[in-house]
Amino acid sequence: MKILLLGSGGREHALALKLKAGGADLTSAPGSDALATLGARVDLDLENPAAVAAWCAEHRPDLVVPGPEVPLVAGVADAVRALGIPVFGHGAATAQLEGSKAFAKDFMQRHGLPCAASHTVTDLAAGEALIRSWSHGYPIVLKADGLAAGKGVVLASTEAEALATYRDFLAGQFGDASRTVVLEAPLAGMELSLHVLADVDADHAAYALLPACQDHKRIFDGDQGPNTGGMGAFGPLPFLRPEDIELMRTRLVEPTLRGLQADGLVARGVLFLGVMWTARGPELLEYNVRFGDPETQVMMQLLDEDLAALLLEVAEGRLVTRDLKLKPHTAIAVVLAAEDYPAGAKKGVPISIGSTAVTVIHAGTRLQDGQWLTNGGRVLNLATSAPDLAAARAAIEAALPAVTWPGRQVRHDIGLKALRHAEAGKTVQDPW
Ligand code: AMP
Ligand code: GLY
Repeated sequence: MKILLLGSGGREHALALKLKAGGADLTSAPGSDALATLGARVDLDLENPAAVAAWCAEHRPDLVVPGPEVPLVAGVADAVRALGIPVFGHGAATAQLEGSKAFAKDFMQRHGLPCAASHTVTDLAAGEALIRSWSHGYPIVLKADGLAAGKGVVLASTEAEALATYRDFLAGQFGDASRTVVLEAPLAGMELSLHVLADVDADHAAYALLPACQDHKRIFDGDQGPNTGGMGAFGPLPFLRPEDIELMRTRLVEPTLRGLQADGLVARGVLFLGVMWTARGPELLEYNVRFGDPETQVMMQLLDEDLAALLLEVAEGRLVTRDLKLKPHTAIAVVLAAEDYPAGAKKGVPISIGSTAVTVIHAGTRLQDGQWLTNGGRVLNLATSAPDLAAARAAIEAALPAVTWPGRQVRHDIGLKALRHAEAGKTVQDPW
């Protein structure tokens, strides 16, 4: 199968490794040096639907797989599908679930999805008044409406901080993306990532769940330090019981699909539900319309299916609701980050990659004269799976000395809190 994969990071490298293992003929755009070792590479502007469609019209791939949200929100999937070429990815209308937090909250509220109380504001004085009379508890969660490269959510623990953040947002801190702001009540509990392959149109609604994963967003062990794009993930969660998954199906997944149908929105891709398991049960933090990074690196270790065939089923509207074939393992992906990340990223540092039993995934590297160099904040991921979480964690720890460079940052506690929770015999209902 001839596949055009859009993107350049760790998520795309993990998808590419899996697609390649199934025999796909890959082209990546804009790709990376690591992706170029798996197929052709073409320089396309992912924010320009016409440019991507023009390449597709000429080269006629059998399937196009956009990795990041930006091309989906820009309408790349619509432009390519208009040529009769299948795309695993939602059109711009559905991508608004990630592209606009105000749109997503309106969707959740209208369709009865459990989520935090919120107000959408665009007027400076009205928002300031809301913050001054805030009655939903602290921290106040402020969300820039549009895409802000993962930086558009601030948890303000004082009124003064909330007012300052709100004023910065409205003044255009993220351009037009922050001129509309969602002010939201805080949800407390355990956060998890639930990915759903979704194939929905007016007369068809099918889905398949991927294993629930947990990301670790802070840079340091023990969830300390600034937020990052994600320092590591694992899945499935050892203490989630079948009835807990069932609750997420009936409270979150199925109402979402019914809501899409009711609103006339078509889904042909993945929906990544950011879930907070609160004292009231699972509630929805957000929708993403793409695979998570590094959750994808975890899920690709577990998926025991031909990925290209599965994505094509969704892209062609042929998915049948079913359980996916999964390895009965727990997988983990640990991010190796550059010095200075997340404030910056020291680039150009030579990486030593020795022989290792785990999968080495490239997120931000480049190749120069046969030497891999750091080239981004999240540089590499080590991923593997094992019969249980403790064994998976141990396999990564054993591999870490083989893949290193001066200034490398890595967390050693990915999955540790969940492991302790499970070992203590606790369930998802117990305090996290
Ligand atoms: P988002 O971009 O919506 O995923 O938000 C980024 C992160 O902010 C989430 O992964 C949560 O950890 C946190 N967050 C978002 N909304 C809330 C909320 N209502 N209460 C607590 N934390 C939140
Ligand atoms: N790992 C979180 C995300 O991809 O948004």
